[in-house]
Amino acid sequence: MPDQTATLVGQIQARAGSGPVKLGLILGSGLGHLAQAVQGVAIPYGELPGFPHIGVSGHNPHLVIGDLEGCRVAVFGAREHYYENGNSAAMRLPLTVLKALGAEALIATNAAGSLRPDMRPGDLMLLNDHINFSGLNPLIGEKTDARFVPMTTAHDAKLRAGLIASAQAVNVALPEGVYAWYSGPSFETPAEIRAIKILGGDAVGMSTVPEVILARFLGLRVAAISAITNMAAGMSDEQISHAHTKAMAPLGAAKLEQVLRHFLRTQA
Ligand code: HPA
Repeated sequence: MPDQTATLVGQIQARAGSGPVKLGLILGSGLGHLAQAVQGVAIPYGELPGFPHIGVSGHNPHLVIGDLEGCRVAVFGAREHYYENGNSAAMRLPLTVLKALGAEALIATNAAGSLRPDMRPGDLMLLNDHINFSGLNPLIGEKTDARFVPMTTAHDAKLRAGLIASAQAVNVALPEGVYAWYSGPSFETPAEIRAIKILGGDAVGMSTVPEVILARFLGLRVAAISAITNMAAGMSDEQISHAHTKAMAPLGAAKLEQVLRHFLRTQA
């Protein structure tokens, strides 16, 4: 284990206990309060050397380690986005630490715009695949052959089946769809949204894809869920804004919490 990872793991385990973490969760814009559901220890990113400094409002930059529904989890209350500093690998160290803490899987969440009339603000979407519309890649510069990560089954079928079963059990609609990663921080133009639609995208957002790539690189199984906060640019008369994203995300967060709690209780 590289020194920086080992130091962080030692520091985290000294505060949160050394029992292996089973699953990691990354919380997206406006979804950070889910971390409060965890019975455990919250460590500010600022106390974890090398962890990102988050400059986006609506995020909760703490690593929370503890129990949620009988499962030992590590919750990242915030992520660094590519658009903050131009670093698509900003979450590499946190995810490396997650793996070193013993995790087998990651569930990433995000706020996203919908390209599908049947997915409205407040709804959830389970990613069954993604499109790297940004063309960036967090593994650029990685020197080993491990950089050639197969992405054919990146969104884990077993995790997805479990999440769908949990959603059904708690009566929350969880349609599957393709997420397109747009770099941000400006939102998309209507023409870009039409292009993403033609390419097969169902939802669009500014995150998650780098973490899915990094998680697969690290050997973590991964699934991701979008909380739809708006119809994508040009699809409705509504003004798209970050304030709107933050205001609408809690609608999806309540459903997300129900699905995740059931999933952790029964399948994780
Ligand atoms: N586009 C990109 N990112 C987003 C959106 C959107 O419409 N909504 C929430 N995050």
